[in-house]
Amino acid sequence: MARPRLILLVRHGESQGNKDKSVNRYIPNHKVPLTEKGHQQALDAGDVLRSYLKETDSICFYTSPYLRAKQTLDGIIDSISDMNIDYKVYEEPRMREQDFGNFQGTAEEMEQIWIERAQYGHFFYRIPHGESAADVYDRCASFNETLFRQFSKESFPTVLVLVTHGIWARVFLTKWFRWTVGHFEDLQNVPNCEWMVMEKSEDTHRYQLLTHLSTWSELEEIKRNAKLKKDTCEEFRFNTHVPVTEDEVNQVIDAEVKAKAEQIEKSVKIKQMYDKMNQDKKRHMELNRCHTDDADDDHDDDTCKNMV
Ligand SMILES: *[C@@H]1O[C@H](CO)[C@@H](O)[C@H](O)[C@H]1NC(C)=O
Repeated sequence: MARPRLILLVRHGESQGNKDKSVNRYIPNHKVPLTEKGHQQALDAGDVLRSYLKETDSICFYTSPYLRAKQTLDGIIDSISDMNIDYKVYEEPRMREQDFGNFQGTAEEMEQIWIERAQYGHFFYRIPHGESAADVYDRCASFNETLFRQFSKESFPTVLVLVTHGIWARVFLTKWFRWTVGHFEDLQNVPNCEWMVMEKSEDTHRYQLLTHLSTWSELEEIKRNAKLKKDTCEEFRFNTHVPVTEDEVNQVIDAEVKAKAEQIEKSVKIKQMYDKMNQDKKRHMELNRCHTDDADDDHDDDTCKNMV
């Protein structure tokens, strides 16, 4: 089993569709090209990729067959072409973006769809003549099986790069890390050409997502902080006769935010410790079972094999 040490996902660079949605009315979604800026972002993404690589690495690129993804891949490869690194490229139709239903309607028609989707729920809403995010999930599941078959080859490269789309990447991560539908719907889209880094842990061989993905609830939190600031200011003004400076208000808020962050960090650490303890215990129990039982039924046999 040669699982790559890194799995990197990247969303394509700025496309003409990102800049002006109306192009989707007459250009098929899979043929929408990058803008000038998008091409530059792809080259820059290559420079960032370079910073993740070691000399001994080799890369397996999987790209969505959509033009904007393929052009992004071209930019990335151009950028690292002087590195003399071994790589191979696969085009993977299951990595295409959620299908928005052939040629898109007018701005008003699409607006109606987005409103309906928000009401129905982003994950399950199926775009007329297109797909839901849940449909994308099923494609990710089948693609994951293919990936694992590839990982079973000893010669699999040390870095896997997936060049793809905003929704696809979020669905893939949701599936991989077994996030809830609720969490998926809370995720904001990732910026064009931003890398999402999954790193394999040396001892557990599991992957950890190192990139922070912005969420809508976090945005609400920031807005709440801005409101907190305003309220604090007003309270100060009301309660003190000396005028308060913005600096003083910021100090109070900073102290509050810092205390809250420390509290959160502490509870995350405690939770991680419990999770690890539970995992270790479970593994220990399973192993004991494998040694003591005669593992006479197939299912048990498989479990034991997978454990070792
Ligand atoms: C991917 O497939 C492998 C092999 O079947 C499985 O063990 C793993 O749990 C799957 N991962 C996800 C996120 O579905």
